[in-house]
Amino acid sequence: MQNRFHYNIALIGFMGSGKSTVSEHLGRMLDMEIIEMDYLISRREGMSISDIFKKYGEEYFRTLETKLLIELQTGKNVIISCGGGVAMRERNVQEIKKNGRIVLLRATPRTILERVGNNDDRPLLSGRKDVESISRLMETRREKYEAAADIIIDTDEKDISQICEEIIQKLSEKDR
Ligand code: S3P
Repeated sequence: MQNRFHYNIALIGFMGSGKSTVSEHLGRMLDMEIIEMDYLISRREGMSISDIFKKYGEEYFRTLETKLLIELQTGKNVIISCGGGVAMRERNVQEIKKNGRIVLLRATPRTILERVGNNDDRPLLSGRKDVESISRLMETRREKYEAAADIIIDTDEKDISQICEEIIQKLSEKDR
């Protein structure tokens, strides 16, 4: 399928909501390049996300995210797989919306827990890998995630193709 969207498509959502996996599949379907924010930031800084948090603190990492989003407003249209905290800063949402639409991926805390299981590069989940802690953190973010979203996709019990089809369909409806 040829890309029919003339803007960036930014995927937001909680850690483990499927942003990276969905971006990859959607990128192939639409023949669009993918920017994986965590990966790019980590590569540029020469260390893991956990080490950036440890060495420089969360605010430093958040500023890198904002700078990267500003950078992505120029150049060709891409799929942006955002870090889970991106939508918490109003400035980030404004930057993305200058040239893009925001897709919120949602999943239940139980699904999130299954997906993040043994990955240790998520400092905010360290010591919080249980349904209750994930629910609590998710609740503190819900309002901002939903306010930022142009479209919302519930991912539980859907396969990757269904999720991508739904994104394409809902974005197309918005563009009409
Ligand atoms: C974060 C999510 C992570 C990463 C960092 C902070 C968050 O990205 O950016 O650990 O605040 O939710 P993923 O959502 O890709 O795990």
